[in-house]
Amino acid sequence: MMTQRPTRRRLRRAALAGAFAGALLTGVLVAGAGTSQAATSQPCDIYAAGGTPCVAAHSTTRALYGTYSGPLYQVRRASDNTTRDIAPVSAGSYADAATQDSFCAGTSCLITIIYDQTGRNNRLTQAPPGGFNGPAAGGYDNLANATAAPVTVGGHKVYGVFVAPGTGYRNNATNGIARGDQPEGMYAIFDGTHYNGGCCFDYGNAETNSRDNGNGTMEAIYFGSNKVWGYGAGNGPWIMADLENGLFSGVNQRYNAGDPSISHRFLTAIVKGEPNHWAIRGGNAQSGALGTFYDGARPNVAGYNPMKKEGAIILGIGGDNSVGAAGTFYEGVMTSGYPSDATENAVQANIVAAGYGTSGSTGGPAVGSNVSLRATTACCTTRYISHSGATVSTQVVSASSSATDKSNASFTVRAGLANSACVSFEARNAAGSYLRHQNYQLFLHANDGSALFASDATFCPQTGRNGQGNSFASANFPDRFIRHYNNNVYIASNGGSNAWDATGLWADDVSWVPAPAWA
Ligand code: AHR
Repeated sequence: MMTQRPTRRRLRRAALAGAFAGALLTGVLVAGAGTSQAATSQPCDIYAAGGTPCVAAHSTTRALYGTYSGPLYQVRRASDNTTRDIAPVSAGSYADAATQDSFCAGTSCLITIIYDQTGRNNRLTQAPPGGFNGPAAGGYDNLANATAAPVTVGGHKVYGVFVAPGTGYRNNATNGIARGDQPEGMYAIFDGTHYNGGCCFDYGNAETNSRDNGNGTMEAIYFGSNKVWGYGAGNGPWIMADLENGLFSGVNQRYNAGDPSISHRFLTAIVKGEPNHWAIRGGNAQSGALGTFYDGARPNVAGYNPMKKEGAIILGIGGDNSVGAAGTFYEGVMTSGYPSDATENAVQANIVAAGYGTSGSTGGPAVGSNVSLRATTACCTTRYISHSGATVSTQVVSASSSATDKSNASFTVRAGLANSACVSFEARNAAGSYLRHQNYQLFLHANDGSALFASDATFCPQTGRNGQGNSFASANFPDRFIRHYNNNVYIASNGGSNAWDATGLWADDVSWVPAPAWA
């Protein structure tokens, strides 16, 4: 632990602690009373009261100031490429997801902008190429599917930012973000069950040219199970600090026992840094207090003291635009100044009071149920997803079908192999074999236990794009949904280079009614 330094700043923090308690109490009581979370004191109000104001505040789920009523994020729909801003339902409240649902009905939407609520215009948009190219046109990263991460806040449906590998947001021309060795803090709420070992699911401070500019040119929250540079106790995932050319779990370059594996469904993750001092903190965003996993001196490795922060902001990627990581982001802020633990504890209490949840968020078939997935396109309402060996297609199935045909069209819904908030479909008559995509086509394959198989076999249910049943977004290609096309089954985007990406009938073809299983 860092030795305590009895400075004037510490005394000021202690004096301010009482002030937060009052400000926080107001927010918690209001939220707790069920008044749609229009708390008078939201995270950025609490940081301001602590003398460390937000200089960037991003969320697709809720306002981060009690008085904020501007746009939270922007979506763009595939049908006509028009955009729509999504704001809180009222000042200080949760996001108006109903507006997104109606704007995106019958088509698909991407998140194009995550606005900055601080008034500094530190918004996040599609990340440009850097040290590495993204998969989209011009080397840009992909944008997130706007409906791939449905959750609830205070019981109200909202959407997070689902980052499949290849997805990334960035701002290389910011205002007020820490540079050099200046102090800063940040927190983010992630889905602690959605991660991988790719580089690097980050939120925070990075290089302004999207390149690796050397040790100490970043300071961002990392979340995932990457062990290339550093790791903590257990098998991960871990909250670490991405300081460039290194994910740090403590003072040592690689292993630090104090940083635990942590995977709460909603995870509060914190990294903060000031001259020769930094910390990692985290906890369950649905209950309880924060733990401190490291608090001490800068790493004992050359190049990280003093820091050389550049002040760009990244989400979902590494500083050099490495795009191998996966994760889900709900909200996060960056501050000017090094927040006190007391301030962060008050923010955590606010987050818990906000009431993140998942109940009813997917509307998908229940895990453990047996289903047959019926097509809803007018041509094909008697057809079901079926397999014959490894081949997957749609087949007409009725009460008079053979036992084999009924069995081939029947699946058990399992918790998603790669993301328990989503689902996987295991064949009723082939235990251990799942629907998975390969080269964008669906097959029935035995689970080989690999991370790739798990991702390929995981689909995230949402309301059917034509209003019927469910549509199932691929976990690792979330802009692609299970679609039938010429009676074959694919994962298809709404407009794309493959024949099965055709926009005609897309919304119908990707909508399935999960009926009781034929077998
Ligand atoms: O520090 C880990 C990663 O290393 C950074 O995110 C990236 O810029 C570099 O590849």
